[in-house]
Amino acid sequence: MDIHEIRAKYLEFFERRGHALIPSAPIIPENDPTTLFTGSGMQPLIPYLLGKKHPVGDRLVNSQTCFRAMDIDEVGDNRHTTFFEMLGNWSLGDYFKSEQLPWLFEFLTEEIGLDPKRLYVTAFIGDEKNGIPRDTESVAIWKWLFEKNGIDAKEVALGSEADGYRIGMQVGPNPADGQGRIFYYDASKNWWSRAGTPEEMPEGEPGGPDSEVFYDFQTPHDKKFGNECHPNCECGRFLEIGNSVFMQYIKQGNSFSLLPKQNVDFGGGLERIAAAKNSNPDVFTTDVFEKLIELLEFYSDGKSYDDSRYTGSFRIIADHMRAATFMIADGVKPSNTDRGYILRRLIRRAAQHAISLGCAQGQEKENELVRCATLVIEKYKGWYTKLGGEEMYETISREIWQEEKQFAHALEQGTREFEKMTTGTISGEQAFMLFTTYGFPLEMTLEMAQEKGKSVDVMAFKALMEKHKDTSRAGSGQKFKGGLADTSVATTRLHTAHHLLLKALQIVLGPQVKQRGSNITSERLRIDFSHGEKMKPEQIAEVVRIVNEKIKEALPVINSTLPKREAEKLGAQQEFGAKYPDMVSVYSVGPEGATKDNPQFEKTFSIEFCGGPHVENTGDLAGIRDPDGSRRKDVFKILKEEAVASGIRRIKAVLVRD
Ligand code: ALA
Repeated sequence: MDIHEIRAKYLEFFERRGHALIPSAPIIPENDPTTLFTGSGMQPLIPYLLGKKHPVGDRLVNSQTCFRAMDIDEVGDNRHTTFFEMLGNWSLGDYFKSEQLPWLFEFLTEEIGLDPKRLYVTAFIGDEKNGIPRDTESVAIWKWLFEKNGIDAKEVALGSEADGYRIGMQVGPNPADGQGRIFYYDASKNWWSRAGTPEEMPEGEPGGPDSEVFYDFQTPHDKKFGNECHPNCECGRFLEIGNSVFMQYIKQGNSFSLLPKQNVDFGGGLERIAAAKNSNPDVFTTDVFEKLIELLEFYSDGKSYDDSRYTGSFRIIADHMRAATFMIADGVKPSNTDRGYILRRLIRRAAQHAISLGCAQGQEKENELVRCATLVIEKYKGWYTKLGGEEMYETISREIWQEEKQFAHALEQGTREFEKMTTGTISGEQAFMLFTTYGFPLEMTLEMAQEKGKSVDVMAFKALMEKHKDTSRAGSGQKFKGGLADTSVATTRLHTAHHLLLKALQIVLGPQVKQRGSNITSERLRIDFSHGEKMKPEQIAEVVRIVNEKIKEALPVINSTLPKREAEKLGAQQEFGAKYPDMVSVYSVGPEGATKDNPQFEKTFSIEFCGGPHVENTGDLAGIRDPDGSRRKDVFKILKEEAVASGIRRIKAVLVRD
């Protein structure tokens, strides 16, 4: 059964059950500025999940092309891909759990023919703090479905992933208690929203508990991943093949209310279902990639996909070229910003791996990467008709070819630079320069150095890379400032505190103080700044006092887009070593009464070049603007002030209950 058959079976199955087939939206979202790519089938349906009437009805089905940029670095193992097709069915306030779960079970076992004994399922354990109950309803339905198939489906309450590795599959302490079939996990695993867990969700975001189906490949557990195996274990025994989200809640203030409609949002990875059907956990062995891998084996002069030295490279090229083909078809061109940058990374990374496989890279216009794209077009154009036609073929092959040529040119120049490096050790700075200016990945520099009997200061290179990652995040497509671990509420509050802190340091220690690095998690903020000596206790106390004063003043935090020149004239703080485009995003704090239309830049307390996100008002750092007053009354505290390098100090600070 190939992916086209599985897709057709799925769509027909749900059409027979009253679902209207809707087209796949492009992977470039329409009218949604919050995200670069469509990463799930529900994304284009948000207004309808929130209550708007959908023109074609309350039951929808489709197969959505998705792209997840955050998975780029994961590609290379047997199951991660950046681009994938998500089979989706939706109930917009129509049916709920007692239809969804039996239908899904029937589809997987009867239509696809998966053995029910190989299926394991999960459900939400409940969240007392947010008043969301344990999903015993889904569990009762699963139990009944398994029992009908002669399977005694026992439950195991796990909790977090860590609990999973500790407790494992067993129901009780004795092996005689038997193995579980249905597993309860907490919100880190069995809650779905675009933004993550209940805590991470911003106001107005819909979300809900979910129930996942896993396929058991019966491979032995690898203890490297944790002591015990469980469905969410990373060892590869289990593969998640479908997720039914019960989109019931919306976050309002700090609590959760029911949405006007109780929706179902199901998503299942088409390639993963194909892998389960194949009984082979490697999605790259499905018909999707079969021809691509064959072609690359041919071009790489007989290197084999099964040779573990090369498997990763084969997978990366195959995944990246499929993603690049769809991205170009949806109108993206390689560039240095946002989507274009992601496309550039995909093509260049594929080109680099083609070189390491020894493909005859860049020699002819119809080279291996262009041919990969041709195979992708051939595979998909029957279903995704936008890929058909001579003109589309021309566009896709031209963009790939040109980008590859530019990359080859940069590599050539970089090689010349490399030849000029005469010392026995390539320094971190040199390796880093080769990377940033000529696009040399470290592996390549290492290889070239080895050929010449030289070494590379890898540690120094990695330290520079970390810093670079922080400063270039905004440009690489994530819409928030470097140094942020995520965009949860807690992290966002600390991000705004970080701006207040930098300004307070400049007030107390002098305007010459500049930020040299930052890292913000939901737990604490960290700032590195230029200052020659240890701060005195009274200086620290004064900085803390100023930050808390600004929190109490409840000043507006305003985001504006300005020409870079103008922002510089206003004295906006820049990130060390960052490159900015002509139009920049700045965040200013205060004065009281400032608004987006009238930001009163001349009177602001702080102004920085920054992509956000931030809270709307400094009062949010303490929760003092909270209408129900239930939010914690937090204050800003410095935990530590220390040296990190000559002339650079580091502060760690938190927002904690007074
Ligand atoms: N929206 C859900 C997901 O992406 C189905 O997993």
